[in-house]
Amino acid sequence: MPSLDLALRAALARRQELLTELHGQATDCYRLFHGSQEGAAGLTIDRYGAQLLVQSFHQPLEQERLPHFAAYYEDALGLPLQLVYNDRSQGNSRIDRRDSVYQNPASALEDMTAREWGIHYRVRGRHPGQDPLLFLDLRNARGWVKTHSAGLSVLNLFAYTCGVGLCAAAGGAREVWNLDFAEGNLAVGRENAALNPDLAPMRFVQSDYFPAIRQLAGLPMARRHGHKLPSYPRLEPRRFDLVLLDPPAWAKSAFGTVDLLRDYQSLLKPALLCTAEGGTLICCNNLAKVELEDWRAQVLRCAEKLGRPVHDCQTLAPAADFPSQDAKPPLKTLILRL
Ligand SMILES: C[S@@+](CC[C@H](N)C(=O)[O-])C[C@H]1O[C@@H](n2cnc3c(N)ncnc32)[C@H](O)[C@@H]1O
Repeated sequence: MPSLDLALRAALARRQELLTELHGQATDCYRLFHGSQEGAAGLTIDRYGAQLLVQSFHQPLEQERLPHFAAYYEDALGLPLQLVYNDRSQGNSRIDRRDSVYQNPASALEDMTAREWGIHYRVRGRHPGQDPLLFLDLRNARGWVKTHSAGLSVLNLFAYTCGVGLCAAAGGAREVWNLDFAEGNLAVGRENAALNPDLAPMRFVQSDYFPAIRQLAGLPMARRHGHKLPSYPRLEPRRFDLVLLDPPAWAKSAFGTVDLLRDYQSLLKPALLCTAEGGTLICCNNLAKVELEDWRAQVLRCAEKLGRPVHDCQTLAPAADFPSQDAKPPLKTLILRL
């Protein structure tokens, strides 16, 4: 498949400047090949420290190609890499990994660490979820948080493995809360915290978003007719100086539905109410089919109607390792000064 080889080479050539910059910032995890934009839709290749993570989303890769990829990047980057291949093209790829296509050397599946903005993160080639433990396209937002957190109280919503919280702690935040309903994800967040023992302790709140944010915002719990709600941790109303809202595209729970296409407002409104006067809300939308301009207008309108007008709105794009031919990257990030 010589055209794929050419595409990998071209992608690496385009990243030379970025990689030098990232290495200088104590970052060793980044996307090396973003197939949908660089000539092989459904294929991504990422470096996470010593791990080379190849993922296929449309069809499995020919196995013979894999050692070739590893050798190519080891040579180009001048370091040994442990190859992990995760095919995600089949519906059950999360569970059924008996197929030979999944066989990786045991050493590649051992726990490792990678660094971003000088912070250490857990890297694990296989775990109960499908996605890697750190989303690389959010790097610039994490960097922004690290630079702007000194002395602030920070609320990291949909925290996943708590990368944003760690950046806030590293940036000198006086208080950091990480909120997520998945204990497994918060457990990795705790591991990440342990990998950075110099950082101030953070709080981990395991809760569904809807009851937690409504309580913090001082709103009554919405009742769902005929349904008894599961129990949830009690929280006092309060505001934070910096709030990060980076939800999944869609998720349903007993308390409500996260739906970035049809109903961003019901996530945004309580998050706005939890943001201090003069504070900052960073909000994200990772759904490719949502246009930045439409979404921004919707966000600003929602804030205005709520009586929390936005005084300044900045857009933050992912770095050059997530190129976008039409200048419309799926991950859109707005930094709102209230
Ligand atoms: C796409 S990840 C968010 C990425 C994250 N903001 C980051 O910095 O990498 C989605 C996260 O939302 C969590 N989640 C989904 N629905 C939720 C809900 N209703 N309440 C709380 N957490 C939820 C998942 O457990 C997962 O950790």
